[in-house]
Amino acid sequence: MFDNFPLWPARASSTAGNVDALFIFLLIVSGMMTLLIFTAVVYFAARYRHRKGVLAEQIEGSTPLELTWSIIPLGVFLVIFAWGAIVYFNGRTPPRDATEVYVVAKQWMWKLEHAEGQREINELHVPVGRDVKLIMTSQDVIHSFFIPAFRVKQDVLPGRYTVLWFRAIKPGTYHLFCAEYCGTHHSGMIGDIIVQEPAQYEAWMSGSSGGPLSASGEKIFAELGCATCHRSDSQGRGPNLFGAFGKPVQLEDGRIVTVDENYIRESILDPGAKIVKGFKPVMPTFQGLVSEEQVNALVAYVKSLSQPGPGVRTAAVPASDGVPAQGNQVQ
Ligand code: CUA
Repeated sequence: MFDNFPLWPARASSTAGNVDALFIFLLIVSGMMTLLIFTAVVYFAARYRHRKGVLAEQIEGSTPLELTWSIIPLGVFLVIFAWGAIVYFNGRTPPRDATEVYVVAKQWMWKLEHAEGQREINELHVPVGRDVKLIMTSQDVIHSFFIPAFRVKQDVLPGRYTVLWFRAIKPGTYHLFCAEYCGTHHSGMIGDIIVQEPAQYEAWMSGSSGGPLSASGEKIFAELGCATCHRSDSQGRGPNLFGAFGKPVQLEDGRIVTVDENYIRESILDPGAKIVKGFKPVMPTFQGLVSEEQVNALVAYVKSLSQPGPGVRTAAVPASDGVPAQGNQVQ
């Protein structure tokens, strides 16, 4: 339905149908209410119009009537609330084993890097039928990652990660837009999402890559000397990072936080913000010393220390082989 209707973009992700169903429901309810109100206005205007010799009589309230027009809309709104909440939470919660892609937005382009190491600009290749999680940040101002055909949109902010996920269900090429006014060439900050059959996608993936992102991260980790403090034997001046990701950790001030992408990012750029209990605030900041891409690689590396599963293919990759220098990346 609506596939050739120009106001209705293709429905190409697993969530698109749910979003459309809710939207159509809202449209029908609003349409019915509009019709009801206009009919009532016209009817009452005619029925109770001014007539010569007839005096207006005062009508007191009617409890049953008022209860009816309170309870029925309440029920309708609660249905909308519950339905909307379900669609929202499904859309907000990435499945655990989703393929990860790091996104860096800047005026005015999208830079994307797959966990496997493939880099793209203003283009994202994804396989049909697989969950894809985007871990996004901005180098400058607020942007917004919007794929109408997938019915997903998420602001991309400087200084932190935001997350978006989708599962494409139809091969094809779909528009990517920046949906937040971000300067002169905001309208040109566009791209393509290329959804491929798994075999096609594997062929594309086997093309040139600088090795997994986590391997790049491992190299940067070594170059910056992180390993001298973050040792795996727990004797270092910094916390042991092996197995840390996804786990709660207690801080000096007693708070307990979960080690997630944003926590690692903050700890690299603002190390004093959340000191792990038992450690001293001795780590220097790497703000300005590492690019967004390098932070992403470091995050991917720290994550890989906790999940050598199939999602992150790092365990099998030798430490620093075949990783190109970081100098050749797009800035
Ligand atoms: Cu980026 Cu608008």
